[in-house]
Amino acid sequence: MPNNATGAPFEWPAKYNEVPKAVFEMDELWPQELENIFYGEEWHPIVHRSEIPNPGDFKASELGDMPIFAVHGEDGAIRIFQNTCTHRGTSMVTESSGNKKELECPYHRWLFNLEGDLVGCPNSREFTPDFDMKNFSLPKLRTEEFNGLFFATMSDKTPALKDYFGAEFTERLSRVLGGDGRLKLAGYQKVIYDCNWKAYCDNDGYHAPLLHKAFAMLNWQGGKGSQNVTLNGHLSFESELTMPDQVDALKDGSILDFKGTSTSTGSLVLMSFPLTVFTKHLDMLNIRYAYPKGPKGIEVHYAYFSHEDDDDEMVKHRIRQGSNLLGPCGLISMEDASIFSRIDKGNKTPGNAIFQKGVKNEFELPLNVAQNDESGNLPRWEHYRKVMGIKRATS
Ligand code: FES
Ligand SMILES: [Fe+2]
Repeated sequence: MPNNATGAPFEWPAKYNEVPKAVFEMDELWPQELENIFYGEEWHPIVHRSEIPNPGDFKASELGDMPIFAVHGEDGAIRIFQNTCTHRGTSMVTESSGNKKELECPYHRWLFNLEGDLVGCPNSREFTPDFDMKNFSLPKLRTEEFNGLFFATMSDKTPALKDYFGAEFTERLSRVLGGDGRLKLAGYQKVIYDCNWKAYCDNDGYHAPLLHKAFAMLNWQGGKGSQNVTLNGHLSFESELTMPDQVDALKDGSILDFKGTSTSTGSLVLMSFPLTVFTKHLDMLNIRYAYPKGPKGIEVHYAYFSHEDDDDEMVKHRIRQGSNLLGPCGLISMEDASIFSRIDKGNKTPGNAIFQKGVKNEFELPLNVAQNDESGNLPRWEHYRKVMGIKRATS
């Protein structure tokens, strides 16, 4: 039964540890999610400077349904534009990345420089009398940079990045970004998961040692650890990893070597709302950019990084470790893909998904969360519910 401003045809349960299964299944929620989340008061990580290190380098992607691209200008600045010509709207770049000296729209050859200014258009003497190229720059998104990573938002009201993330998340993010952001791109792996975007980012601390068999096979125990949550839906896990002396399950256990860097404990996993995952696992530095393909399907780009100070051997080690452990077919995260699509199928049934581990009071939002609790996802769900304007039942 529709119960609220957004017209969601269900009521959110009164208990904080219950989430309506319909939120994974209702395609009708997507337009509202675009408006309130992807184009709302949230910061979205778009590109790290090391992905487009030279003038003219660009990377195209999407924010919600909207095509965008980031480009490294002649002046050294990185700008993020909507991927659309200011004449009749043709997309400006079609490749996912590359290098251009200037940006020319193929339709009527309007020409833009790398800073987004319109610098030429054929036959402009026959345009309207007050036509001025200055009014036709490419539409630029509001951005902020942190350790080389550029975030974009569609809203002027989004708080400054540091306030948006808070001190703890920001400190952990700096370590995933190599401590000082001086990274080099090692490469990408891309995969499409067969599920609604919210199933992809509902992965929790409870399942890690239970679903992922490799943890047991490798006799890999997570040591002291913690999970931190923010009221606006970001969460982070940090744990020490105690590596076994001998790994019998692998012919060559060297992919598990921890050469250790200045930044750290064994494992850091961060999830920023709505759907980006950052990982520093052993020596692997990884950003998982994610792009929902509408309400069904999500394309995830695993971007792997090394540090500028690494020697060749360390770069090779990071690449080998990154793609073999946590990539789309890595030893540890492979099973998630099957769970994501099973969540999607299984939730085409009535009722609510129930969270138990770490929940002490069903009628309170849990904010003190232990390393392997699933309750850490509940502040995210509460943020989602509020941003979407869906009412919670009172009893
Ligand atoms: S649509 Fe781009 S030049 Fe006309
Ligand atoms: Fe997982």
